[in-house]
Amino acid sequence: MAWKATGVAWAAFAPGTKRSVNIDGGTYLLVHLGTSACALDGVCTHEGGILSDGTLEGDGVICPEHAAKFSVRTGEVLADPDGVTPPAGVAQPLSVYRTRVVDGMVEVDLG
Ligand code: FES
Repeated sequence: MAWKATGVAWAAFAPGTKRSVNIDGGTYLLVHLGTSACALDGVCTHEGGILSDGTLEGDGVICPEHAAKFSVRTGEVLADPDGVTPPAGVAQPLSVYRTRVVDGMVEVDLG
């Protein structure tokens, strides 16, 4: 277990919004969904789109490059590029990470 600071203050992280955070050279996406923060890889597994530039839709984030859609809760591919459903394995799932709030700041468990 390796909890890492994100620099994101929970009180300033509005529900339904997302942030890109860089930790130890990696890019991660934080999403305030419901009453908790979801954390997942911030770079699309298709061709490297930056998911923080994408669009949140329900429990998913849509890549800004070719519109693959990923679950922000599980990292599962909900749609392949060009919004193709059901997905056929063109895009691969994203890794997801546990989050917690300590002293008002969001932390991510990078394992
Ligand atoms: S780079 Fe994300 S769908 Fe192509």
